[in-house]
Parts: sequence; C-alpha cells; structure tokens
Amino acid sequence: MAPKKPLGLPSLLLLPLTLLLPQGGLPAWLLRKPNIRLRTSDPDFLAAVDSWFKVLLPKIYPWLYHNGGNIISIQVENEYGSYRACDFSYMRHLAGLFRALLGEKILLFTTDGPEGLKCGSLNGLYTTIDFGPAENMTQLFALQRLYEPHGPLVNSEYYTGWLDYWGQNHSTRSVRAVTVGLENMLKLGASVNMYMFHGGTNFGYWNGADEKGRFLPITTSYDYDAPISEAGDATPKLFALRNVISQFQEIPLGPLPPPSPKMMLGPLTLYLDGYLLDFLHFLCPQGPIYSMLPMTFEAVKQDLGFMLYRTHLSHTVFEPTQFWVPNNGVHDRAYVMVDGVFQGVLERNTKHKLFLTGKMGAKLDVLLENMGRLSFGSNNSDFKGLLEAPLLGQTILTQWLMFPLKIDKLVKWWLPLQLPKSLHPQTPSGPTFYSTTFSILDSGGDTFLFLPGWTKGQVWINGFNLGRYWTKRGPQQTLYVPRPLLFPSGALNKITLLELENVPPEPQIQFLDSPILNSTLHKTYIYSLSDDTPSAPQPMELSGH
Ligand SMILES: *[C@@H]1O[C@H](CO)[C@@H](O)[C@H](O)[C@H]1NC(C)=O
Ligand SMILES: *[C@@H]1O[C@H](CO)[C@@H](O)[C@H](O)[C@H]1NC(C)=O
Ligand SMILES: *[C@@H]1O[C@H](CO)[C@@H](O)[C@H](O)[C@H]1NC(C)=O
Ligand SMILES: *[C@@H]1O[C@H](CO)[C@@H](O)[C@H](O)[C@H]1NC(C)=O
Repeated sequence: MAPKKPLGLPSLLLLPLTLLLPQGGLPAWLLRKPNIRLRTSDPDFLAAVDSWFKVLLPKIYPWLYHNGGNIISIQVENEYGSYRACDFSYMRHLAGLFRALLGEKILLFTTDGPEGLKCGSLNGLYTTIDFGPAENMTQLFALQRLYEPHGPLVNSEYYTGWLDYWGQNHSTRSVRAVTVGLENMLKLGASVNMYMFHGGTNFGYWNGADEKGRFLPITTSYDYDAPISEAGDATPKLFALRNVISQFQEIPLGPLPPPSPKMMLGPLTLYLDGYLLDFLHFLCPQGPIYSMLPMTFEAVKQDLGFMLYRTHLSHTVFEPTQFWVPNNGVHDRAYVMVDGVFQGVLERNTKHKLFLTGKMGAKLDVLLENMGRLSFGSNNSDFKGLLEAPLLGQTILTQWLMFPLKIDKLVKWWLPLQLPKSLHPQTPSGPTFYSTTFSILDSGGDTFLFLPGWTKGQVWINGFNLGRYWTKRGPQQTLYVPRPLLFPSGALNKITLLELENVPPEPQIQFLDSPILNSTLHKTYIYSLSDDTPSAPQPMELSGH
C-alpha cells in the first residue's frame, strides 16, 4: 500500500461550501425588471445580491473554521467566466461584500472551467479549476498555476458523471475513468471536490437548462451516474473511489448504510379526470389578465409551470394557415388548441410552425410550458411564455387573455370532478388530467414510476410534484418516488398526471424496483412532416439502436 500522503487544503473530505450563485440559483423574480442585467454590476442586480448576502453571510459567520465551525472556504460566484458579461467590477463588488461580512481570515475562492479562468478569476480570490476525468490534468493544473503560482492545486468540480438532457443519450462515466483520474490527482497532492457526489432529483419544475447552440432542458433525474445514486444508495463507484482515497488518507471504518428497500407495484390503470381547459376556473380562480399583446410569465409574476394564452380568431381561416411566433419567441413549449381541439406543439429552437384553420370567433388556446431556466453559459435572462405576438398567416394576433395556472394547488386540493367516465379522449388528446388511487404494503419502499406509452407531462403523488416525464423523448423513463411520499398501508395514495400531448391506448403506469434512465428506444423524436407542409403535424418516433 502506498504511504499516506498529506492532502492539500481544502482537504478532500471537507467539501467546500458552495454559496450562491450555484447553477440555476437565481430567483425568477429578478426578471420582473425586464432590463436587469443579471450577474453584472447593474445596480438593480447588486441591490438584490447585497440584501441577500447581508442576511445569509452573518448566519454563516459563526460556522467558519476559525470560529469553531466546519466551513474551511467559501466560493464566490460559480463559473462566472463562462458568462458573457465578464464584469470585473461585479466580481470585485462580491469579493468586497464577502470580505466585509466574513472578515479577512476565511479563504475565498472562485471556480471555473479552463475557458472561464480569464473572466472568472480575481486578485484576492483563490483561483481553482474544474474538469472531469477525460481531461488532461497536467495541462489544466498548469493553467491553474498561471493564476495561482503557489498554493494547492484544486479541482473544485471533478465530474464523476454527467447530467442528462431530454432527447439525448444518457450520460455515464466509467468507474475506471473516475477512479484513475482521482488517483492521479491525489498523487499530485491536489485537492478534489466531486461534482456530483450525490446528484438527486429535480423535483417539480426545478430542473435547469443549458444552451449549446439551442435550448437544452435537463431531465427530472439528476442521478448523474454519481457515486451515490438518485435514491441515496452506495454504488460500485462509491466503493471504488473509497479504495482510492484509502491509499492516501485513513478513512472511517464501519459499515455503510445498506441500500433502501425498493418496491414494485402495478400496472395500474389511470382514469380521465378531464381536459385542462375544462378546469380553467379552478386553475386560475382569480381570472385572466387582459393585454393587447401577450405578456411574459415574469410580467404577470408566474415564476414556474404553465400559463394559458387565449384569443379568438378575428376572421374565418378556411385554408390551413401558418401559426408561428417570430424570433424563436416560444419559451419553451406551446400546446395549441382551436375550440378545445388539440392541434400540435411549437417548441423553442425545434418546431416553429403549425397550420391551423378555424371559424371567425373560434377560441385559440396556447398553453405555454416553462421547461426550466438557463443555468449555465452566456444567456441568463431567460424570459418565459410568448415573447412575441404570434401570427396566423400575415395577421398579428392580439387581444390576449392570460391565465397563470395554479396547477399544483388544484392537484393538491381537488376532489376529482366526476366527469362521465365514458368520455373518450380525443387522439391526440392535448393537455389532459388522469389519475387513480392505490395502496401499498407496510413493507413497501422507494420506487420508480414508469409511464410506458405516455408522451410528455407532469406527475404528482399525493399532491407532491414529482417532476416532468417525457417518455417519448427520453432518455429518462422512470421517476424516482421516495418512500416517504407514500402513505402507509391502509391509506389511499393518489397519482395525478397532466399529459400534455397524447394518452396511450392503455392508460397505465407501473412502479418498478430499479430506474430506467438510459432508454434509447424513443430517443430521437422528430415531427414527421416538415415545417413547411400545410397540415397538422403528427409526432413520429424513430427507434434507436
Ligand atoms: C497532457 O498535456 C501535457 C502537457 O501539455 C502533454 O505533455 C501530455 O502529452 C498530455 N497527455 C496526454 C495523455 O495527452
Ligand atoms: C447515442 O447512442 C447511440 C447508441 O449507443 C450511438 O449510436 C450514438 O452515436 C449516440 N449519440 C451521441 C450524440 O453520442
Ligand atoms: C443566446 O444569446 C445569443 C445572443 O443574444 C443569441 O444569439 C442566442 O440565440 C441565445 N441563445 C438562446 C438559447 O436563447
Ligand atoms: C441501461 O442501463 C441498464 C442498467 O444499468 C443496463 O443494463 C443496460 O444495458 C443499459 N442500456 C443501454 C442501451 O445502455
């Protein structure tokens, strides 16, 4: 066994505390000032930052290491150099604020990828770098040395896996690559923080999104192929990493907690509660907001979820006519109905046109979904909703009613309105609620909700918003359901789905005892008809390999 080597500071097992601004961590209400320049020295932004840190940092102060606590260092900003603003006065402001509120003794540091060091580093803040096992660490630590000639080599985000985007392949990093990378860094005496050690779940609406030429929303699961699984279980990667660490530092002895029990249940048949449009009065009890031109989510203080935009056709449209929103102005998906009949979907960067017909006075409903805000990269002011007035042919559509929807409240409190069960859904259905009840045994455990054949939507268990599913696009096929969300045996649990596009012929779900995060079966999802074909597009799947 190799001799135990001292580790650099901060030591491996004391993870640096990442304090704001983590990815995705800015509150949406900042965008209620439409001209705010986020993450810059814009006074409106600095005022919000100051008021936040003036409350937070004094709470942190007693827990600093030299005050007897366990916080050995604090990160300022996060990969700021990857953000286009490159505003050094903003970084200087943050550094001054942290120093003023935390004193001189605490080590403050920055974190950037190699391309971000230039704009992310600042004198007085210790520069660290982040990279994954595939990178050339000799080269990258040499780059860190350009900024920090002395002091520890620090990889502040060592990527143990990677996140997933809807419609792309599941990401993994092999145990071997991750352990070899760690071993090599520790041999150099470098300090390492693993990102992620435990990735977890983007429950509810809380996923972020990246921008790589186009908008890429992140999946509900943030399992990340991390050493601790989404369900909190030790994986082979954890044991392998522990072995590596044990060559350099004594590790605590004693057993690890065993994996949590898992359970299977179902299949269960779900029942139609009704179309979303039928519940509008319950979903928006305060009534709609009127505006000549559509307003963004932010302008009407709808931070998350869904908003319905409604107008009426001002003349009869006989021939299929192009319905579209200029400047990629659908943020992020639009589900379009004419007189309640689902017409199809528009999607940011992906699907820009539909072809509609309708009589004068027909009701045009456009349900907008916020798919999660940009949480990395150069664009952060990611307004949601209809950013421009839609056009039908040459006509700009005006006179909009906007219904900010409180879906979570309705799902939590409603007694399902007893619509006749004989009501057959249209195909494709458009936004529709389905639900059922079920009970579990006391021996039940964590479980993974599988939604075979469903298209895309949101799902709740006992009123808790589990997150988005997108079976048709993948790669994620199951949603993690922690056992504490379920009532003990005897009590009825309720599952509610908002299916946005199309219900399968057998409206069933299942609970599995292990996750499926890597389905390539439906991974390529395109529309069969090109944007220019004048008829209602139908979703088509291309099966994978
Ligand atoms: C890593 O980078 C160093 C320094 O540029 C270079 O000498 C070395 O060959 C590289 N290693 C690999 C495996 O590419
Ligand atoms: C996704 O996975 C498939 C099958 O493993 C592979 O053929 C394809 O090249 C992958 N796509 C990307 C973008 O990596
Ligand atoms: C990001 O901003 C640039 C410049 O304004 C723009 O060209 C690009 O389309 C934006 N990307 C997204 C995903 O909105
Ligand atoms: C998906 O993951 C499972 C479980 O880890 C594995 O058995 C299977 O081979 C994977 N499938 C693909 C296509 O990668």
